[in-house]
Amino acid sequence: VSVKNVHHVGIAVDDLDASLLVYEELFGARLEHRESVEDQGVEAASLRVGESRIELLSPLGPDTPVGRFLAKRGPGMHHVAFEVDDVGAELDRLRAEGAQLIDDRPRRGLFGLQVAFVHPEATGGVLAEFVSDD
Ligand code: CO
Repeated sequence: VSVKNVHHVGIAVDDLDASLLVYEELFGARLEHRESVEDQGVEAASLRVGESRIELLSPLGPDTPVGRFLAKRGPGMHHVAFEVDDVGAELDRLRAEGAQLIDDRPRRGLFGLQVAFVHPEATGGVLAEFVSDD
């Protein structure tokens, strides 16, 4: 296992601007990146909080992954992302262990990162993400 650290915690929000202000005011967060990704149906902001990172996700519409999450669960924690060197190698390892995956192979995620998601069934209820910077 070659997880280096928790890269970020993803939070689903209804209002990205309002949530940005909350994280800035309450936790001293600093905006690192912000982008809308039409084909993922999401507008996202990456915030630095000290040495750590929070990813705020707001849906571009109700019929999107984050829109459906909000309708079902309401705003709150959405996923935990683990930084690794090689997302594909981690997927191969989890597949060999029989863990349920959402992504069969690494794909291009937010902010240009290589990512893949692991199903909450595999972790006891928390959506997990592998991230690599290249
Ligand atoms: Co993420």
